[in-house]
Amino acid sequence: MTIMVTGGAGYIGSHTVRQLRQRGDSVVVLDSLEFGNRDAIADTPLVVGDIADSHLVTDTVLDHDVESIIHFAAYKAPGESFENPGRYFENNVAGTAALLETAHRNGVKHVVFSSTCAVYGTPDRTPVGEDAPIQPESPYGESKALVERILHWYDVCHGRRSVSLRYFNAAGAAMDGSVGEDWRVTLNLVPVAMKALLGAGPQLRIFGTDYPTPDGTAIRDYIHVDDLADAHLKALDYLSSGGATTAFNLGTGTGSSVREVLAAAERAAGQAVPALEAPRRPGDPVALWADNTRARELLGWNPRYGLDDIVTSAYQWHKITS
Ligand SMILES: NC(=O)c1ccc[n+]([C@@H]2O[C@H](COP(=O)([O-])OP(=O)(O)OC[C@H]3O[C@@H](n4cnc5c(N)ncnc54)[C@H](O)[C@@H]3O)[C@@H](O)[C@H]2O)c1
Repeated sequence: MTIMVTGGAGYIGSHTVRQLRQRGDSVVVLDSLEFGNRDAIADTPLVVGDIADSHLVTDTVLDHDVESIIHFAAYKAPGESFENPGRYFENNVAGTAALLETAHRNGVKHVVFSSTCAVYGTPDRTPVGEDAPIQPESPYGESKALVERILHWYDVCHGRRSVSLRYFNAAGAAMDGSVGEDWRVTLNLVPVAMKALLGAGPQLRIFGTDYPTPDGTAIRDYIHVDDLADAHLKALDYLSSGGATTAFNLGTGTGSSVREVLAAAERAAGQAVPALEAPRRPGDPVALWADNTRARELLGWNPRYGLDDIVTSAYQWHKITS
């Protein structure tokens, strides 16, 4: 029995593929390579193509005896999703609907889905729990919320159980430096800070310094990519042992401000990140961090890494690969 990992050549996918293989699971990656990197998955079997291609997905599922899917493949930039919502609904929603139907018809039992804390929009309170209202504030967030609903109905109608993992801010790189984020294709704070620090990009812009937070900058929950990867293995085990369809928050439960991230980067690199202050961006919540109790209790998941591990591993990775 094999696990098909869509988007497995991307950032979080490649770290997850590595952990699956380390524990001896059979894996096949399906990735268009639009953003993924073949080298990131070493000799893992790779099928290059699109999740919406039902012939290709059928062949892959049957050829590899696929029992479960971990579904990372999607577009992920909230800002871009305002400029081109159709791109997000087509790939993230219609593409996923096609994938799920093909998977169902070919007997795939379980799906672990990459959702996001963006489904909560600006929550009424933090830490945010899974029962908070789903009120996304971007087409990207909406695309993930819609897939969660589709997954719900595949369970009700077909008994196909799934787990939606709502990631907070993924960051960092493998501790041994073997795999990390590709800063050419991401707008996330940590890689953009590393680019500025290592002289490979412009000064970092701190969007908003007048928020009602202790240092005036926005607060997020940064979660190490290997902790995220570990949760996917635990989610598969949860489903295999009969766990019900549900969603889990994946965050550390601690918020860090932009200035705290930059201070950690300075500790890691021994020099300050070149940065300038910029206005707030519309739609950016002031503060967002996770209540991760459900994942701790039902998955037995305990994030091991903190902000300094995240930033130090990212710095080491980008220093080697830049
Ligand atoms: N990075 C984060 O902080 C974060 C936070 C919340 C949720 N997520 C979600 O996690 C998932 C993975 O994120 P990531 O940071 O690893 O992104 P990524 O862009 O590095 O990886 C996505 C991969 O999917 C592939 N892909 C995209 N559309 C495809 C398609 N139609 N068919 C086949 N392959 C396709 C890309 O080539 C890429 O390799 C995404 O679904 C994203 O929305 C990421």
